[in-house]
Amino acid sequence: MASYRIALIPGDGIGGPVIAAAWAVLQAAAKAEGFTLAAESFPWSCAYYLETGRMMPEDGIESLRGFDAILLGAVGWPQTVPDSVSLHGLLLPIRKAFVQYANIRPHRLLPGVQGPLRAETFDILCIRENTEGEYAGAGGRVHQGSAHEVAVETSIFTRAGVERILRFGFEQARARRGKLASVTKSNAQKYSMVFWDEITDLLAADYPDVEVTRYHIDAMAARMVMAPESLDVVVASNLFGDILTDLGAAIQGGLGFAASANIDPTRTSPSMFEPVHGSAPDIAALGIANPIASIWSGAMMLEHLGEPAAAKRVMRAVEAVTARGIGTRPGQDKTDAITAAILSAVG
Ligand code: IPM
Ligand code: MN
Repeated sequence: MASYRIALIPGDGIGGPVIAAAWAVLQAAAKAEGFTLAAESFPWSCAYYLETGRMMPEDGIESLRGFDAILLGAVGWPQTVPDSVSLHGLLLPIRKAFVQYANIRPHRLLPGVQGPLRAETFDILCIRENTEGEYAGAGGRVHQGSAHEVAVETSIFTRAGVERILRFGFEQARARRGKLASVTKSNAQKYSMVFWDEITDLLAADYPDVEVTRYHIDAMAARMVMAPESLDVVVASNLFGDILTDLGAAIQGGLGFAASANIDPTRTSPSMFEPVHGSAPDIAALGIANPIASIWSGAMMLEHLGEPAAAKRVMRAVEAVTARGIGTRPGQDKTDAITAAILSAVG
């Protein structure tokens, strides 16, 4: 019987309850499909930081390396630890150390979910570059605190980095409806974004079956609202992908439904699966966090592990539950009630 070792990092706030929900559903799917999932849970979080002075131990990355995948809830508790410290101490180092260069985020309406748009039939797969670009972390501050203070944050775009994410986008488009939208701002940013456009054009020759269109980020933001059904796979840099995927979450009814996968396509290191939402301190104590984003992320994990039947089983259960109006509106149903309904549908 196949067996997978999963590292659970619930993190902060609603991360705990949504990961508990997702884990229960994944266990049920594994049982039904005849494989096992074994978890080891890591308490790394802002509370851990307050105790130890670190978001994860020095050998944190090494302790995760042997797992088949990582399931993460949410990182951040800005009342006690600045986000710039917590994120750079846990989430972002994992994405970089394990070269999870493709951040995949699906945006479509689940049955029964009322989005803010008239369009109901869109099915967009956003692919966000996840290791470099605007979030490379290259920069510094000088003359700190003085009137002459300078802050510099440089985007890093490498040929290898841009080529591999675009190639990944082309492959995804080929496996779906054959359309790739490559997003830049090359009319204003004449070095990095022109570079990205050039590589897009170069690679297009290898994928004659994929229809590739270049968009500027501002126009893409408008298109995702006005004509989301015209889009299939959307590939963008780290910052642009970050922004577009919150927009994607909004048009799919909210962050409670937005799932993501941080993938190392080479499978050298474990990939990490997490909801797009954060720790939501404002509702953390209320028991109303929607676990669907985490459960959907868990389904993406099963797919990645090579268990597509179990992944489909989870998504069918989620869809059956939302179609009945359960978990479809923010704050309407308790986390436990949504989870129980999905558990009984998963079989
Ligand atoms: C996301 C989040 C993170 C990101 C933050 C918390 C650093 O917004 O996963 O989209 O921008 O990568
Ligand atoms: Mn984001």
